[in-house]
Formats: sequence, C-alpha cells, structure tokens
Amino acid sequence: MGTMTALRAARGLVIGAGLLFAPLALAAGRAPTPKECAAHPTNPAVKGGCIVINRSLGNCMACHVIAGTSMDGNIGPALRDVRANFPNKSALFEQIYDPTINDPHTAMPPFGKDHILSKAQIREVVDFLWTL
Ligand code: HEC
Repeated sequence: MGTMTALRAARGLVIGAGLLFAPLALAAGRAPTPKECAAHPTNPAVKGGCIVINRSLGNCMACHVIAGTSMDGNIGPALRDVRANFPNKSALFEQIYDPTINDPHTAMPPFGKDHILSKAQIREVVDFLWTL
C-alpha cells in the first residue's frame, strides 16, 4: 500500500466513525431521558431537549406530543418534522420567544418575552426541535 492510499484509507475510517457517532450526538429526534439530562449533557440539542422536558422550564409536553415523552399534550400540534413548518431557526426562535407574533390569541406562553426561558435556553430548545 502506498503512502497516499494508506492516508486515504485512514481518512475513510475517520469519516466513517464520524458518521456512526454523529446521530447519537444529535439527540436522535427524541427527547432525552431524565437520566440523560442528569448526566449534564454538553450537546446544545440535548440540552435543549432537557429544557423542553423540565417541568419548571419548558414543560412543552403539557401541550405537545413530543417523541420520547409520554404526556402527549393535545392543546398544540404534535411537534414532529418541525423544520417543515419553519423556513429557518430564527423563525422557530420567534415562535418560542413570543408566539403572539404569529397568533395574538395563542394559548402558548411567550417563553422569552415573559422571562420563563433565557435567549440562550431558547436557542438550545430550537436546536433540539430542529432534530425532530
Ligand atoms: C399551554 C400550552 C402550550 C405550551 C406549554 C407550549 N405550547 Fe407550543 N403551541 C401551543 C399551541 C396552542 C400552538 C398552536 C399555534 C399557536 O397558537 O401559536 C403551539 C405551537 C407551537 C409550535 C409551532 C408548531 C408548528 O408546527 O406550527 C412550536 C414549534 C411550539 N409550539 C413549540 C413549543 C415549545 C418548544 C414549548 C416549550 C418550550 C411549547 N411549545 C409549549 C401551545 C403550547
């Protein structure tokens, strides 16, 4: 095997390993478990999922069906394939920060405007929702 071939093979291995591990790091399209949250995750999407399921923070499952949770709230639409309804992450950020912009009579709390969540927390929630 020539040096270049060996290098290429090594790079293939690294890329292959990256592909294998990437979906795990991306919260895999479901809410993390309380156990995963207790382990202090550092991945922003996983952290966002932990905010979503925390009953004193997002508590989003009270109103929404979300994969990985079992409360199956039915006041708002099921949160699946969320990306299909938002052109980009900032539009989704806006929906969480202040849903009254899109619907003045919404039942959804303005998490940002009412200081329930910080902007940094909402950004992580958006990263999580983007994986659903
Ligand atoms: C008290 C009920 C309630 C809670 C709590 C709530 N929502 Fe909602 N949500 C709604 C309703 C109702 C809608 C329907 C659209 C509207 O009225 O704005 C909605 C719409 C949405 C949408 C738009 C869905 C789409 O595909 O158009 C997203 C995204 C969303 N909510 C995310 C969240 C997240 C994330 C949380 C937690 C941080 C949350 N919601 C908490 C009631 C709620």
